[in-house]
Amino acid sequence: MTKAHAYLSINREDHNFIDAIGDELTKRLIDDPINLPAISNSLMILRSILASHFDHEESIMKEQKYPDCSKHKNSHDYIITLISSSISSLSQECQESPTELWLTLKKTLETHIKKYDDLLVLYLDTCP
Ligand SMILES: [Fe+2]
Ligand SMILES: [Fe+2]
Repeated sequence: MTKAHAYLSINREDHNFIDAIGDELTKRLIDDPINLPAISNSLMILRSILASHFDHEESIMKEQKYPDCSKHKNSHDYIITLISSSISSLSQECQESPTELWLTLKKTLETHIKKYDDLLVLYLDTCP
């Protein structure tokens, strides 16, 4: 099994795990939308898992000389910044609704997967 093929299976597992955290966060927001510390804590866990997932993707992109590496990395950076600003806005007095913050973030993650990760997977599938 090549590194690229190993990556493909890890990537699917990571994405499923990230989805599961997202579902947990959605449930938490429905059950107790004013428990901001718990919501912030879930976002911090999500940020840390995503940061290591992104590092892994970026190292594979470099290794495989992926042509759209820098655009893909910019999107990763944007997502981490978005989560960090969501966490800080939850701790401020005039915070946006946590549900709105999460819906924006969830949509950004889904778009990232469709726009960047799926293309990377297609590229890696053609690598020897
Ligand atoms: Fe990914
Ligand atoms: Fe990605």
